[in-house]
Amino acid sequence: MALVNERARILANAKVGPNLYLMELASPRIAAAIEPGQFVHMKVPNMEAHILRRPFSVYARDAAAGTLEILYQAVGFGTDHMTRIEPERAEHLSGAELIGPVGRAWEPPADARRALLVGGGVGAAPLFMLTESLVAAGVRTDVVMGAQTEAALTCRARYEALLGAPPLCATDDGSFGREGFCTSLVAEALAETDAAGEPYDYLAVCGPEPLMKIVAGMAAEVGVPCEVSMEKRMACGIGACLSCVVDTVDGKKRACVDGPVFDARKVVW
Ligand SMILES: Cc1cc2nc3c(=O)[nH]c(=O)nc-3n(C[C@H](O)[C@H](O)[C@H](O)COP(=O)(O)OP(=O)(O)OC[C@H]3O[C@@H](n4cnc5c(N)ncnc54)[C@H](O)[C@@H]3O)c2cc1C
Ligand code: FES
Repeated sequence: MALVNERARILANAKVGPNLYLMELASPRIAAAIEPGQFVHMKVPNMEAHILRRPFSVYARDAAAGTLEILYQAVGFGTDHMTRIEPERAEHLSGAELIGPVGRAWEPPADARRALLVGGGVGAAPLFMLTESLVAAGVRTDVVMGAQTEAALTCRARYEALLGAPPLCATDDGSFGREGFCTSLVAEALAETDAAGEPYDYLAVCGPEPLMKIVAGMAAEVGVPCEVSMEKRMACGIGACLSCVVDTVDGKKRACVDGPVFDARKVVW
């Protein structure tokens, strides 16, 4: 699908966790076309002095209503500016200019029967549409989520509603689920399903690079295909500037057009 440049009205922008915000946008053409794992490149409203767009994965979409949701963490100038957007205020009524859908989507094997998805922090959001499509295809899907605290597990309720069972959770401070990093839950899930003779045949990970590297290593050890979503700093978002390169066994690749989703076996960590 060709890239669309669409001015999207901002319908909602609310704080949903510590430093975490959920923005809903009316973007019918992108909502109709976007695939799980792809992202939008946003010109942050009222930041005209800054020409660079910011990339955000799409957390959820409603193609019929023509809406998109992004879950974002305020980490710097642009995202901090976004937290102050009030949809009803006159200067925000013109909305945000989006380019999308950008990038390579998740590509689970066509014959996958059992999947394990691992989201660290805000990285749980780009896995939600993938979970929806796997569940719809009848793939048994387990989800592991890790965050610093219970309050930062903002996607948990939505995953539980979709899966019909709670996702496996870990928090750094032990305020919910397993205390510590979620990698221990991944190791256990791999071992238990293997011992039960029902091993996973697809893993997908999104989150901090150390988490993706560890889970990619676990997947490689048991020989299960694994995909990762690489969050590199981006400038053009269309493959022209090479600011987002990822080292792979096939040479340097651009996260914006060759990714952000990569076969974990190809990434040189
Ligand atoms: C494909 C893709 C999808 C993304 N999806 C999401 C998402 O769903 N939710 C979300 O909260 N964030 C997401 N990000 C990260 C988001 O784009 C950055 O946090 C944002 O651009 C920072 O802008 P800023 O102006 O606030 O930060 P800046 O002021 O430009 O930078 C502040 C800090 O943020 C870090 N940073 C800047 N850009 C990135 C980046 N691309 N990746 C990681 N760290 C960065 C910098 O290293 C710096 O420490 C995604 C990034 C990519 C590449
Ligand atoms: S952001 Fe310019 S090549 Fe990827």
